Amino acid sequence: MKTLLLFSTRDGQTREIATRIADQLQQYAETVVLVNLHEAGELDWSGYDKVVIGASIRYGHFHPALRTFVDRYAAQLNALPGAFFSVNLVARKPEKRTPETNAYTRKFLASSAWKPDYSAVFAGALRYPRYRWFDRFMIRLIMKMTGGETDVSKEIVYTDWQQVAEFARSLAHLSGKKVENQA
Ligand SMILES: Cc1cc2nc3c(=O)[nH]c(=O)nc-3n(C[C@H](O)[C@H](O)[C@H](O)COP(=O)(O)O)c2cc1C
Repeated sequence: MKTLLLFSTRDGQTREIATRIADQLQQYAETVVLVNLHEAGELDWSGYDKVVIGASIRYGHFHPALRTFVDRYAAQLNALPGAFFSVNLVARKPEKRTPETNAYTRKFLASSAWKPDYSAVFAGALRYPRYRWFDRFMIRLIMKMTGGETDVSKEIVYTDWQQVAEFARSLAHLSGKKVENQA
């Protein structure tokens, strides 16, 4: 099995999650090609059995490059068994951590030209010291309004690594049904 694993990140957390998933898939004897979606350029889709895309949220939106990529490659994406995961801080609350209860993910999936077979939502990281002052100010405001951490000296990773491992395990079992259907 050869998996194309694309990620869209601003501060690195989605890359870290994608790397974890890649490591685990490799343990299941899969070949994984990890690609930064923002640097993907012209992609050669031949030889892939599976595709996974992960993307983070900033100020309520995925990076516009995600939509551009999905629109451009919808046919190739839909021809493969696929999975999507989103990364955001709303998902630090367990009740907002499913594709149905996480509004960013639900809206993306509803309007996307790509219809992945499987989706997940992961909580991201809050790293106040690394943000520019405006972002730090805004995130702190949002955190205050939503009952979150407001101490700007803190860096907190809310990602549930067990949930990431379970997602990777599910990916390993994602079969090549669509590829077979093309025959
Ligand atoms: C400037 C900024 C804006 C953000 N806006 C949101 C937001 O609107 N909703 C949310 O749930 N998380 C928001 N986050 C949290 C990020 O989604 C979280 O930090 C995630 O781990 C970022 O992933 P990345 O490092 O892969 O980009 C924001 C973070 C930053 C720094």
